[in-house]
Amino acid sequence: MGEHGTQTMLERLGGAEGIRRWIWRFYDRVGQDALLAPLFPAELTESRVKQAAFFLEFFGGPPEYTQRYGQAYLRFKHRRVTIGRAERDAWLAALLASLREEVTDAEVVAEVERRIGPIATSMINHDPARKDAYYFR
Ligand code: HEM
Repeated sequence: MGEHGTQTMLERLGGAEGIRRWIWRFYDRVGQDALLAPLFPAELTESRVKQAAFFLEFFGGPPEYTQRYGQAYLRFKHRRVTIGRAERDAWLAALLASLREEVTDAEVVAEVERRIGPIATSMINHDPARKDAYYFR
């Protein structure tokens, strides 16, 4: 429990185990998604491990992601992934849909959307309307 007996975000997400189940579900979806799957490696185990470590740290858990993989620099790490608005939307929709399968509290899902949505938007590095325009690379 956090201050005043309220649960922390990490607790509301089911702790490390809950985040792990959430991210495993997320990559099940990614692997089935026509738009997203081609962007990811065929073998998703490493992606699952990294992403779960990232979110655990992001939501207040131990800094395992940073210790293993260095500072996030997420935009830089996504520079070879073509991310337009559609890819961003599909990625976030898959993330939230898998979370809804894991937690019953809609407020938790809304809070994740508030915190992750803007970061997902900042990952957009491609505008399909501008033929060969890759900006901010
Ligand atoms: C809030 C938004 C996002 C976060 C927090 C996030 C997080 C991450 C992390 C932590 C990694 C592993 C990087 C590493 O340590 O090597 C990663 C990789 C990757 N991300 Fe994202 N990402 C986001 C958005 C997106 C979006 C919108 C897409 C595409 C639709 C995407 C596609 C990928 C791909 C293809 C990889 C490389 C494969 C992999 O290592 O999983 N990401 N992302």
